[in-house]
Amino acid sequence: MGYELLTFQVADRIATITVNRPDKLNALNDALMRELGVAIDEARDRDDVGAVLLTGAGPKAFVAGADIGEIAAQGPVDGKARALEGQRVFRRLERCGKPVVAAVNGFALGGGCELAMACHLRVAAEGARFGQPEVKLGIGPGYGGTVRLPRLVGRGRALELLLTGAMIDAQEAFRIGLVNRVVPAERLLPESEQLLTAILANGPLAIQACLEAVDTGLDLGLDEALLLEANLFGLLSGTADMREGTAAFLAKRPPRFTGA
Ligand code: COA
Repeated sequence: MGYELLTFQVADRIATITVNRPDKLNALNDALMRELGVAIDEARDRDDVGAVLLTGAGPKAFVAGADIGEIAAQGPVDGKARALEGQRVFRRLERCGKPVVAAVNGFALGGGCELAMACHLRVAAEGARFGQPEVKLGIGPGYGGTVRLPRLVGRGRALELLLTGAMIDAQEAFRIGLVNRVVPAERLLPESEQLLTAILANGPLAIQACLEAVDTGLDLGLDEALLLEANLFGLLSGTADMREGTAAFLAKRPPRFTGA
């Protein structure tokens, strides 16, 4: 499909998805959310894609939230439907089986912060700003903010952000564990790509299993989560990649993983 509100480019096994509505600070309207869903599925399904880098067009914003014009016009039924649809798209991203890095180049507010949190890792430019300002509009988060934020930064810090609607800078986001690293703006894309390249050097099935173990395991009890880990460990032991990785180590040579 051709995209109008985002760009999709593949280089060196990394699909870069750039939300491209800079005149509205990349706010997520329904059409953009639909395209994002299609782009995520394309990245998941393409064999030449091993990882995803998600960013925003322009110097100012990653994504400044859901489109407030559309929110203003919604009633309870379509409001709920909009939240469910956004949650489904973000969940597809989180469960796509390939590592996703958010390269946060500016404002990540409301749905933008929620989108960044649905990515597996977050790299922020020094000038990036994060927040869940929905309460300032008389509404609450709808795309997973009350669910993922406390899981990432803890209940107290999450509630402070959710209840005040305050914006925090990239260093504060790093301090509380909301982002993995902070880099100068000009290093944002190179550092994000380097991070994904380092991940892509590892066994793809092992990466997929780690993503699944953490995503599913966090919501299980300790014993069930440990059993899931053991099951995945056993499953990986049947792969050519495991034989290749261990043989390469023993032969003191770099591994050549095939994802089989
Ligand atoms: N939805 C729709 N439009 C948005 C938007 C959003 N979430 N965020 C920004 N825009 C639009 C503005 O309306 C403006 O459009 P216009 O030029 O046609 O008037 C354009 O993007 C630029 O934004 P502007 O507010 O002029 O930039 P700024 O530098 O003064 O302020 C922000 C930047 C991010 C502080 C401010 O835009 C803002 O608070 N945005 C809303 C954030 C939010 O509440 N998100 C959660 C939504 S649920």
